[in-house]
Amino acid sequence: MSNVHYMNHPLIKHKITMMRKDSTGTSEFRKLVEEITMLMGYEALADVKTRDIEIKTPIEDTVQPVIDGKKMAIVPILRAGLGMVGGMLALVPNAKVGHIGMYRDEETHVPHPYYCKLPPFISERLIVVVDPMLATGGSLIDAVNEIKEQGGKDIKCMCIIAAPEGIEAFTKVHPDVELYVGALDRCLNENAYICPGLGDAGDRIFGTK
Ligand code: PRP
Ligand code: URA
Repeated sequence: MSNVHYMNHPLIKHKITMMRKDSTGTSEFRKLVEEITMLMGYEALADVKTRDIEIKTPIEDTVQPVIDGKKMAIVPILRAGLGMVGGMLALVPNAKVGHIGMYRDEETHVPHPYYCKLPPFISERLIVVVDPMLATGGSLIDAVNEIKEQGGKDIKCMCIIAAPEGIEAFTKVHPDVELYVGALDRCLNENAYICPGLGDAGDRIFGTK
C-alpha cells in the first residue's frame, strides 16, 4: 500500500516498546507519546512546502526557506490524540489546532462522533490528523470523512500503533490520504483491542483507569 509509511527508526521502535510496558506510568507514557510524535512528525512533514524569505545574518543579506506553519492544521481525535498535539506543536508552533471528538462503543466498536471544530479555510491547509491507535479503523475513517465534508483536501494521518485490519479498512476508504504508522502490530482481539498493543491509549494518557 503505497500511501502507508512505516517508521523504521530505532529511536521510534525503542520508545514504542517503552510505551507498551504495563509498568510504564502516566507521566512517562505522556512523555513518550510526545517524543514519538516529534520523531514521526519529522518523517511525515519531510515533503512539506517551503517558501523563500529575505533575512539578514550577521554576515550578509540572504534569501532562505521557511515553512508556513499557519497554513497547517493539527487535528487530534479525542481523547487520546490530544497526547500528540504538544509534539506536533513543538515542530510547527504556529500551526492551528482543530478537534474531533469520537469514542468507540464498547460492545459494537462503532465510533460515535460528539464534537468537531476545525480551523477556518480548512481547504487551504495541510491537515495532520493524530491518534495514537488505529484498531478497526472506524474512528480515523469517520474523522477523515468529516474533514473532507468540511472541505479538507490535503490530509495526512499519524498513528503510533496500528493493526493490519485498520490499515486495510482505512486505505480502502481513503486511498488518497498518506498514513504514517509507528508500529504495525499482529491483529485485533475479540474486544477489538490491538495485540500486543498498549491497552487503552486514552486511559493511559489521562490516568482514567
Ligand atoms: C481509541 C483511539 C482511537 C480509537 C481506535 O479511542 O484513540 O480513536 O480508539 O479504534 P478504532 O480504530 O477501532 O476506531 P477511544 O474510542 O477508546 O476513545 P478515547 O480516546 O476517548 O478513550
Ligand atoms: N483503542 C485503544 O486505545 N487501544 C486499542 O488497542 C484499540 C483501540
